[in-house]
Amino acid sequence: MRKALSNVPIKGSSGGCIDNSTEDPPVDITEHSVEEFPRKSAKGSDANSPENSTLGSAASSPVIPTDSCGADPPESCDIETYSSLVFFVNGRRVVEKAVDPELTLLLYLREKLRLTGSKLGCGEGGCGACTVMLSRYHHSQRVISHYCVNACLTPVAAVHGMAVTTVEGVGSLKTRLHVVQERLANAHGSQCGFCTPGIVMAMYTLLRNKHLPSQEDVLENLTGNLCRCTGYRPILDGFGTLTAKTQVPAGCGRTNCCRTASPLTEDDVGTKKNKSVSGRGTEVDESVARVNGRESDQGIQANGRVDGDAANECVAKDDPWRTDNANKEGFHVSDHTNNSSLNTPDDDDVENNIFKSGDHASHSGLKLADHDNFNPTHQNQKNNANIEVHILNGSLRTPEHVGNGDTVHHDVLKPEECVRGSSLNGHGEHNSVKTNGCVEDCSVRVNDDVTRRSRAKGHVQCDEASQGINDDDSPRLSTGYDPTQEIIFPPELKMSSHLDRQTLMYQGPRVTYWRPTTLAHLLTLKHRHPYSKIIVGNTEVGVEVNTRNKLYPILINPSKVSEMTRVSLVESGLVIGASVTLSTLQKTLQHQVDTQPDYMTRSFSAILEMLKWFAGKQIRNAASLGGNIMTSSPISDLNPVLVAAGSSLTFISLQDGEREMVMDQTFFTGYRQNSARSTEVLLAVHIPFTQQEDYIHSYKQSRRPDDDITIVNAAMRVRMVAGTCRVAQLSLIFGGMAATTVHAPKTMKELVGRSWDTSLLQKGTDLLLEDLPLSPNAPGGMVEYRRTLTISFFLKFYLSVRGWLSENVGHLVRPLSQDELSASSPFPRPTAISTQSFQQVPESQGQHDLVGRPVVHTSAFSQTTGEAVYVEDIPHVENELHAALVVSSRAHAKILAIDETRALQLEGVEAFFCARDLPGEKNITGPVTADEQVFAQDKVVCVGQVVGVVVARDHATARQAATLVNIHYQDLGPPIITIQDAIRAQSWWEPWTVNRGNVEEGFKIAAHLLEGEMYIGGQEHFYMEPNAHIAVPKGENNEIDVFSTTQNPTGTQQLVAKALGVPSNRVVVHVKRVGGGFGGKETRSCCVSVPAAVAAARLNRAVRIRLERQEDMLVTGGRHPFLFRWKVGFTPEGRLTALQARLYSNAGCSLDLSDSLMIKALCSLDSAYNHQNLCVTGYSCKTNLPSNTAFRGFGVPQAVMFIEDILSQMAAFLRLDPVKVRETNMYRVGDMTIVSYKLEQNLVAQCWRQVLDNAEFEARKARVQDFNRSNTYRKRGLAATPVHFGIGFERVLNQAGALVHAYTDGSVLLTHAGIEMGQGLHTKMIQVASRALGVSSDVVHISETCTNKVPNTSPTAASISTDLNGMAVLNACQELSRRLQPYKERSPEGSWRDWVEAAYSDQVSLSATGFYRIAEISFNPVTLTGQPFSYYTSGAAVTEVEIDCLTGRHMILRTDIVMDIGNSLNPALDIGQIEGAFMQGVGLVTLEELCYSPEGVLLTRGPGAYKIPGFQDIPCGLHVTLVRDSPNPKAVFSSKAVGEPPLVLATSVFQAIKAAVTAAREDNHLPRVFRLDSPATAERIRLACGDHFTRKVKVATRGPQPDKAGNTVC
Ligand SMILES: Cc1cc2nc3c(=O)[nH]c(=O)nc-3n(C[C@H](O)[C@H](O)[C@H](O)COP(=O)(O)OP(=O)(O)OC[C@H]3O[C@@H](n4cnc5c(N)ncnc54)[C@H](O)[C@@H]3O)c2cc1C
Ligand code: FES
Ligand code: FES
Repeated sequence: MRKALSNVPIKGSSGGCIDNSTEDPPVDITEHSVEEFPRKSAKGSDANSPENSTLGSAASSPVIPTDSCGADPPESCDIETYSSLVFFVNGRRVVEKAVDPELTLLLYLREKLRLTGSKLGCGEGGCGACTVMLSRYHHSQRVISHYCVNACLTPVAAVHGMAVTTVEGVGSLKTRLHVVQERLANAHGSQCGFCTPGIVMAMYTLLRNKHLPSQEDVLENLTGNLCRCTGYRPILDGFGTLTAKTQVPAGCGRTNCCRTASPLTEDDVGTKKNKSVSGRGTEVDESVARVNGRESDQGIQANGRVDGDAANECVAKDDPWRTDNANKEGFHVSDHTNNSSLNTPDDDDVENNIFKSGDHASHSGLKLADHDNFNPTHQNQKNNANIEVHILNGSLRTPEHVGNGDTVHHDVLKPEECVRGSSLNGHGEHNSVKTNGCVEDCSVRVNDDVTRRSRAKGHVQCDEASQGINDDDSPRLSTGYDPTQEIIFPPELKMSSHLDRQTLMYQGPRVTYWRPTTLAHLLTLKHRHPYSKIIVGNTEVGVEVNTRNKLYPILINPSKVSEMTRVSLVESGLVIGASVTLSTLQKTLQHQVDTQPDYMTRSFSAILEMLKWFAGKQIRNAASLGGNIMTSSPISDLNPVLVAAGSSLTFISLQDGEREMVMDQTFFTGYRQNSARSTEVLLAVHIPFTQQEDYIHSYKQSRRPDDDITIVNAAMRVRMVAGTCRVAQLSLIFGGMAATTVHAPKTMKELVGRSWDTSLLQKGTDLLLEDLPLSPNAPGGMVEYRRTLTISFFLKFYLSVRGWLSENVGHLVRPLSQDELSASSPFPRPTAISTQSFQQVPESQGQHDLVGRPVVHTSAFSQTTGEAVYVEDIPHVENELHAALVVSSRAHAKILAIDETRALQLEGVEAFFCARDLPGEKNITGPVTADEQVFAQDKVVCVGQVVGVVVARDHATARQAATLVNIHYQDLGPPIITIQDAIRAQSWWEPWTVNRGNVEEGFKIAAHLLEGEMYIGGQEHFYMEPNAHIAVPKGENNEIDVFSTTQNPTGTQQLVAKALGVPSNRVVVHVKRVGGGFGGKETRSCCVSVPAAVAAARLNRAVRIRLERQEDMLVTGGRHPFLFRWKVGFTPEGRLTALQARLYSNAGCSLDLSDSLMIKALCSLDSAYNHQNLCVTGYSCKTNLPSNTAFRGFGVPQAVMFIEDILSQMAAFLRLDPVKVRETNMYRVGDMTIVSYKLEQNLVAQCWRQVLDNAEFEARKARVQDFNRSNTYRKRGLAATPVHFGIGFERVLNQAGALVHAYTDGSVLLTHAGIEMGQGLHTKMIQVASRALGVSSDVVHISETCTNKVPNTSPTAASISTDLNGMAVLNACQELSRRLQPYKERSPEGSWRDWVEAAYSDQVSLSATGFYRIAEISFNPVTLTGQPFSYYTSGAAVTEVEIDCLTGRHMILRTDIVMDIGNSLNPALDIGQIEGAFMQGVGLVTLEELCYSPEGVLLTRGPGAYKIPGFQDIPCGLHVTLVRDSPNPKAVFSSKAVGEPPLVLATSVFQAIKAAVTAAREDNHLPRVFRLDSPATAERIRLACGDHFTRKVKVATRGPQPDKAGNTVC
């Protein structure tokens, strides 16, 4: 090994070894501690038997000694080994005497310890739902480290000697809530809640390490977590209250780092008065900066973020809706800048700034979620206090001990808050702020708003009796994180290191797991078992095992081999042990960058840049440097930069000792292969320092910027001849361009000796294209894009180097222009800013009447603690079995035979069922049309079709057995996969046509005609909770209970009954909550639940089934892809005269809901526009894909995207403003829609005007144009689009029922027909019932949705569930109230309970049913005419984006949304729906891409391959306004449906991107009218920009381009 460098000072280090402090798993330093006696291991017992695991006292019994010499294999003979696993969970000791090494920590927690808070969302480290915190004590350093990991990838065997904290250990409803849980719930950051425990744990771990983190820290720590419901904003809001306003620098961390230098011009950032313009971590002159986007003349936020123009406009100074006028209108503006440190000691500065600015924005505290008052006990129910402060984050359910003395009090309003309160005064008719109440208000305790809790029930007591102004029992406010309240670290682990020093050997049925503690032992093991797997983080191997069924019989964990976890500073650089985690590497390198001279650490900075984009925090905490190198993936992010840095590797083996290998192209020998020998272990990696003349950079392009695998990455290093700009050495290394990490030999050679000028750039570009060819059919596709990226990166590098040279040899090289600087810099991401504006309830409204108030989701708190029960969390039933589906691997084939022999031979397998077991009609199924089979019979029509079901004693055995069922196929001709295939084969169901006016005439009068095609890709629902169902036969009369993740209990009931051949009255379907559905669990969940029910009925035993994420995606189908072929006629003013089109949807192999969906798409084609002449035919194409199904929007998003695209193409053609073209065509009241229905009301125009106004559209349009004129490599686009969404099912489904029981203790049990899947339906129903009955909401409880309480439920879908169920609930409650009325009149002073008791005594029924139907929908489904909808929900959005023309990356700078949703029942939930739907739409139009093989296999399965938006994808500014005073007479309490319409507003993002691309194309002299398909991925954006690089690539890429119908189909 290299010599330790003693003369280089290292901060915090006393020698060659670097002190890695506490935050991340630190580098191990060899430890010597208390002696302890090895024990004998217990062998041969069942690893899964519960008696082998103990929790608590029994576990403290001695570990049984290992009979080491009796162990097999012999390598243990001379080493004392241990076979008991000892660790702590939430402070309690666990001893597992016979651990199965195949078990993950997650399954151990969930299955064996029954800690079901941590969720299984994907099993591949990609969603974060399983996040837990691991803690270790480092005896040599005497520090504890805490770090979050993915429990789904962590072998339970790996936590020996550690403390595990799960969400249950953080806080609970039974004890107390942790501040993280409290903030998340109160900020409305939990909808379906399935992601919530993981998000809590990620944030909790951050707080354990850093008590006052920055917003940057929060974002960094959450990149490994996904949420499909919320749109992330409320989560960041809630956690934003726990942050400091300081920022952590990114990039290399130097203030002059060119990677973080803002590409924005001085104009963008304001006057020169600003101290800094860096996008990351730079200084700000506070005199001009404002938080909350309030005063942003200079475009700088208080944390130093710059958003250029977008930031300037995030909240306009004169914005009528967000400033004084907002209050005039009696509006609430909930306003959040995530970097604001509310409740932190620095608050005052921030707040004062706001008011110094003279900005009178509403800071009344009348917010969606009020951070100054974050405590779940703050209810909306307000007494007679003068200020209605922060009451909008009340909850319907509050835990008993919340804030119970554990939190710091905040008794009195701060003076600034009074000022804020007074700023509202006198303006609002409904303003509850006392007009001149400032001074008195200061004395009003915030706690006055708190409604007393019912300690007995753990619920908020909201009845009259409990309300009091100065209720001393009121819980006090939490002001922030209190580390003293945490569980103590287990003293045993602190006192002795014996567990860390134990050599472990765990023997499972199939796998042996070793944890050696010495290098010698490791090498012996590797020598004896050359094909054993070394696992460190298990982030590669774990994914292979979990998702690809790989089995590695011998695993060796070297994490206790100190030589491999050490970091040494040597003369030439750093030597990093191979097992060092990436988080530690990150910290170590950052320390070097911070403390060493700049020139020495340029490689380290380049590695840091890569690590910034490398996976999420959880993965980086576990994954090792060696693991990344040894995997040798061609898309490794570290290998290119390590190679470019000139790193070398030290291998070691028992036989040959140490061996050095330079890390160059010869190291990688093939796809995931390298030249290491099978007996060798990678010991360490040497990364040399750079020299004065070195310059190095790394680049990565992926689908999603964060936590995503690479499409192409690169690391480029140049060494200049000193004092010149002549190249001495050049290293250009690429990933994603071949089967291995590759270099560009010719370019590297031929550019040496050249001067760093444009001729070098040109030559280099040409040579690179020669060096890095890709065949048209190269694996991974995207050939043109990948090749373009290589040369685009080279341009970026060229410019960066030029910028650097201009500083060093300024006389030879001129500095970069702003434009060039923008090309070489990454996007600076400004801190997110958001506002939510909504109308407050009238002052006259009773305090406990929650209708219209933004109360917290009724399950939010139990979701944050992990106590909310999902199907998979339901305790096992006696004798329960587990099922796994056997699915087709062919898209179109005859089944010749099914052979289950091998599966049945597997121990633990009970049975296999297939079509043979379900004869005749019973096997015929289908939600609308009976065109499907429960089990495929005779032939299969798609990959993923259910052929059978295996039932076994546990999930793993069932899954293993499923792979052993042998199906013999005979292919039946080529499958039809794409829409184009279907068109060729004319494969579709009966088409539908919508016809209005006379199209031919319309074309005749048109001045212009355009025609074209547009493709809109499909979308995976990606609900966070995969399908799970439990079928429990009741033992008599063929009765069966089904606990199901379905949106459609009655549909499930009917299909189960049919398959079992029993009447529906024997089947009861229960749904407590569903972890997200979005339409995906409306019909397709039956493909999973029905087979499980069949198995359960046949075996007369409970059968549980849960799908793995990848399987769920394969089997269940998603949003329909659409192809549009169109021709349009229009006038010179841009008025439509005729539209003729064909719509083709890819419906998949069965009809499912595709007919209804096509009709809805056709009826919604007009969107907000008046078409005089239109003829459009829709074809639902029958293909060999899994049946596509309902997905939020139900065909409308595709229809609207299409029509909006046509309008923008017309505008581009006419060179008119697209806004004007839209306005020209927009509907007016009285117009006839395309289905010949006269519009009686049209709120689109109002939303449209308001959003243009809010967004300052005109002014910003001019600024965008300016920006585009002065930027070549970055372009911005601004677009506005409306939504006019018809609400209503097809006629028959527009009905709902409800059942309300009052019990004699006064409690009310409510049941209705809708299911809770995160949208807050139950919360709204409680609000409705509470008002209708005149009782406090805490009296009303909803337990579940169940087919034996309310029959014949319509699916919870089509956005209409609140309308239908709300009216049914109202109806039931009114009936109950009517019966109680005499008692109320008789005893007006009595309580609700008194009246109920009195009625009971009089033998009055206290149970009432309710029913509601919408009668007026009168649509003719044959002619497609009439009134298809009950009413319309309208809205409009303005979005501004910026694109990087060289990579195709985009960033949403700002979105403004205005929506008319009537009188919102609950603005918090409704805004949650708007933001969540919008972000789901953003995924649809920018990111989410489903790819199939030509054989019809879905390739993009799981979060690794299929990317949904993450935390960093939200708009930098997001402003949502609800239209005021807009009651809707057609729905409950004048509200409107909201679930689906806002998704359509993501069209504004697509159109803004298209506008930005158009600007780039204009520079490149390309036509303004062009085709851009959806999603507008980085690839599509880059190629559509069409510059000389893309032209070069086209020429250089010889041979046919990938066929649309060939290879990968997206
Ligand atoms: C959600 C997710 C996101 C990811 N994102 C990225 C990303 O952005 N960029 C990227 O490049 N990768 C990414 N990866 C891949 C993976 O995390 C990395 O490759 C990681 O560095 C592997 O380290 P590990 O310790 O977990 O490896 P393990 O899974 O423990 O081992 C991986 C391989 O290396 C071998 N090995 C490990 N150590 C040694 C040694 N000392 N000697 C010999 N062989 C050894 C093992 O035998 C095994 O074959 C991601 C993975 C996941 C699950
Ligand atoms: S379940 Fe572990 S990351 Fe998704
Ligand atoms: S609340 Fe996050 S996935 Fe549902």
